[in-house]
Amino acid sequence: MTGTTEVLDGIALSRDLPAHDYDALDPLRTFVAAFSRLLERRPHETTLLEEGAGLLAQLVARDDWLPDAFATPHPDHYQQFLLHCDSAQRFSIVSFVWGPGQRTPIHDHTVWGLIGMLRGSEDSQPYVLDAKGVPVVAGEAVRLLPGDVEVLSPRLGDIHRVSNVYADRVSVSIHVYGANIGAVHRSVFTETGERKGFVSGYANAQLPNPWGKAAPPADQQ
Ligand SMILES: [Fe+2]
Repeated sequence: MTGTTEVLDGIALSRDLPAHDYDALDPLRTFVAAFSRLLERRPHETTLLEEGAGLLAQLVARDDWLPDAFATPHPDHYQQFLLHCDSAQRFSIVSFVWGPGQRTPIHDHTVWGLIGMLRGSEDSQPYVLDAKGVPVVAGEAVRLLPGDVEVLSPRLGDIHRVSNVYADRVSVSIHVYGANIGAVHRSVFTETGERKGFVSGYANAQLPNPWGKAAPPADQQ
């Protein structure tokens, strides 16, 4: 966006800086602050996932804050955009964007994860590995609708395949992982049990900025 910037002794006065969607990103900033406070309590994973799921449910209860730049599908494959990474890499937040009909391979995570459905719908099909390392379907697929949150943990079962439910529209989910997920070494599995290492990476080079305007200290939120 453009705006008139007044400069005083070489410093741009903040009140005159170009307008920005700080207010629109307020739900993201609030979530980051609340999730950081949750981790500072060093809760057991059960508590962390339970309370974290509640926080994520609040974040995805409304679909008016994610900038379009982080909700854009790739024509050939799904992609994930980093929205925030904790400075100690205790957690990361990504937007997962599914083009029509796109799906992941069967994969693991190696860290806990929370998946909140923001827009559209996705199916998460759990798998377990048999004695030969071949992935076998484990129960019914979980269908996420806007506002729903799914919990993943190596402790509970960590292998799944995720698909956009829709063949004709984009779906977007917000994921929180217990690490900088774009740098975590993990695995994909073929139907025949071949295991391949991968690091997912991120589609974006720049982050959304929710920190600019009237951001009170965390203990005042
Ligand atoms: Fe996954």
